[in-house]
Amino acid sequence: MDRIRVVGGRPLEGTVRISGAKNASLPALCATLLTDDPVVLSNVPEVRDIRTMGRVLGALGASCEFRVGGTVDARAARIDAVEAPYDLVKTMRASVLVLGPLLAREGRARVSLPGGCAIGARPINLHLQALARMGATIEIEHGYVEAKAKRLVGAEVQFETVTVTGTENVMMAACLADGETVIRNAACEPEIEDLAALLVKMGAAVAGAGTPTVRVVGRERLGGARHAVIPDRIETGTFVAACAIAGGEIEIQRCAPAHLRAVVDKFRETGVRIEEGPDNLRVRAPRTIRSCDVRTLPHPGFPTDMQAQYMALMTQAAGAATITETIFENRYMHVAELQRMGADIRVEGRTAVVRGPTPLSGARLMATDLRASACLVLAALAAAGETIVDRVYHLDRGYYRIDEKLRGLGADVERLT
Ligand code: EPU
Repeated sequence: MDRIRVVGGRPLEGTVRISGAKNASLPALCATLLTDDPVVLSNVPEVRDIRTMGRVLGALGASCEFRVGGTVDARAARIDAVEAPYDLVKTMRASVLVLGPLLAREGRARVSLPGGCAIGARPINLHLQALARMGATIEIEHGYVEAKAKRLVGAEVQFETVTVTGTENVMMAACLADGETVIRNAACEPEIEDLAALLVKMGAAVAGAGTPTVRVVGRERLGGARHAVIPDRIETGTFVAACAIAGGEIEIQRCAPAHLRAVVDKFRETGVRIEEGPDNLRVRAPRTIRSCDVRTLPHPGFPTDMQAQYMALMTQAAGAATITETIFENRYMHVAELQRMGADIRVEGRTAVVRGPTPLSGARLMATDLRASACLVLAALAAAGETIVDRVYHLDRGYYRIDEKLRGLGADVERLT
């Protein structure tokens, strides 16, 4: 199993290019199931979760060809099977995104329930309730969701909690439903807007994406399209944090600063200098980092997917910072590993208090999920001596060659295979 070795203490310098967004590419790939025409997606990151989604689509009978450079030719000329099996769903819960499209196109879907994961219980009850409101009958049997509907009908769907993939599943299902669906308390993440942009290119009638009310008028059929996926805002934020913690000055290219408002504002508050261009950020680390509290929230708030990386930075800030995780109930698995490096962090319920600055020392660490792994790599950039991060497959799920990108900025990082 691959490991990453980091020797801390080198400031970063140079430029880094951001890849396409994993969390926009996953629903986009599922949206290709809504038509029998070809769909060409570009700027798709070549990360593990995307390959896994390729296998999920393959299991349904769709073809998915990955070209070098991040272009995917997808075509679901016909659907041979309507099942997302346990083995795939357990490795990647975003596989549940096939539920809406399959139900809409085939009238049937059988998707393994994903179960809990390293960051929380993460049920999909809200996806199921919404599809039931659209006329689907839903049964849970042997750990699988069995959903059926002759034809889905448009409905008023009011989400009691903001859910990103829930909003995406319903938007996709509604595209082929009979009549209008109104989604209230919809997620407003840029990935939702990107999915809507693709669906509209495919001929769907979607309005309001990016706001809490999304309206979709169902069509008889959708067609093919070409679409370039938005840049990954979490990868972008991770490089902002890397520069802030390692020191130095970098330029982050091919990103979308408009998608990172809360992140840019928060890092500026800590003293990081950030200059924004239309599709780039110049980041300069301060001499001393200020401690600032943060609370994760749905977009446009500070993203939960940046909480762990921000915590790594707060171990090097002067004073106490309170971090409150409001999205997932168990997203502090990185804390014990940061403590092993010398960090002073106390967790009570959903709140973590980080006191800094504490010198960190390199250690052998184990990653537990994608963003926790990124946090450990960042902490290692600031630590004295060598750190080995095990279970790099978590990183590879969502970051394209993060080791190479950091090395390109002058960090002492290598992958041990
Ligand atoms: N929730 C329910 N019931 C549901 C759906 C959600 O109770 O039916 C709860 C969840 O347990 C959680 C909250 O609602 O407490 C929000 O979860 P959401 O459904 O928004 O999360 P998700 O759609 O499963 C996506 C991203 C995550 C990201 C979250 C929050 C994808 C593929 N995944 O997950 O990304 O953390 O939104 O922004 O888009 C990552 O990339 O590392 C990652 C975990």
